[in-house]
Amino acid sequence: MTAIDDPGFSALTRQISRRSGLALEAYKDKCIRRRIAVRMRACGVHTYSDYQALLDQTPLEYERLRDALTINVTRFYRNAETWNLLRRELIPALAASGDRNLHIWSAGCSSGEEPYTLGMLFAEHFDRAGCPGGLDRVTIDATDIDRGSLERARGATYRLDALAEMPGELAEAYFEPAGQERRVTERVRRRVLVRSHDLNVEPPPRREYRLILCRNVVIYFDRPMQERLFSAFADALVPGGHLVLGKVETLFGPVRERLLLVDPRERVYRRPE
Ligand SMILES: C[S@@+](CC[C@H](N)C(=O)[O-])C[C@H]1O[C@@H](n2cnc3c(N)ncnc32)[C@H](O)[C@@H]1O
Repeated sequence: MTAIDDPGFSALTRQISRRSGLALEAYKDKCIRRRIAVRMRACGVHTYSDYQALLDQTPLEYERLRDALTINVTRFYRNAETWNLLRRELIPALAASGDRNLHIWSAGCSSGEEPYTLGMLFAEHFDRAGCPGGLDRVTIDATDIDRGSLERARGATYRLDALAEMPGELAEAYFEPAGQERRVTERVRRRVLVRSHDLNVEPPPRREYRLILCRNVVIYFDRPMQERLFSAFADALVPGGHLVLGKVETLFGPVRERLLLVDPRERVYRRPE
């Protein structure tokens, strides 16, 4: 059943969107239903109207629902082949470009593993090239809507097992011990600006990105939202800039005229010069 033929459910989602500012309509229906069901079970309510009443009495429940809606699974060097491609081709090309500022965006960064992996690959590239100071050209905007994830990203401290998929030399060089855990080195942390940003309602933080990573995020959004977002990414890239999606995500809609598929396996697209 869709929200249209289920009046109780659509009244509930309208209330949530109105009161919390969360653009619920942008998410896939199935995804919202599953998450609302999780929260209803946790609160011990059985009908949509009871959950609506509970939200009225307990505003904090809006925050809990927001947290439940966001799926934060991530890892350092997740999908190694994609990172290998970035390490081998895109990052060296960006570094060689001569651009004074290299603005990168990790959109839907979760707890920071993705933007810090990027920062480490840039650091490695400049270190190997014998110009460690080149890293100062790099700024990585790391954005998400999930408060808990953003807090973890700011802390930049991870359990050892979070590093398991990273090439050993990267793990060795760009983490420092923090008790039983490991913290991203200050030099890499400084390049990553962690901030709250809702992809469904806010414009991109900047408009001059050389590289945008938005991986394993748009799968939760409905088709019109995905199309809007893809077109916002195309606008936010400089000519020649690249967009990398998740392994199971595909660009569609009119934006395909504006972004060329350059690596079908790793879902890499480029805005033509
Ligand atoms: C599965 S994680 C992906 C993390 C990372 N990009 C990766 O591939 O490993 C999806 C992230 O998207 C975030 N997200 C969901 N809706 C969002 C929105 N409207 N705006 C920004 N981030 C959102 C979630 O909070 C979550 O952290």
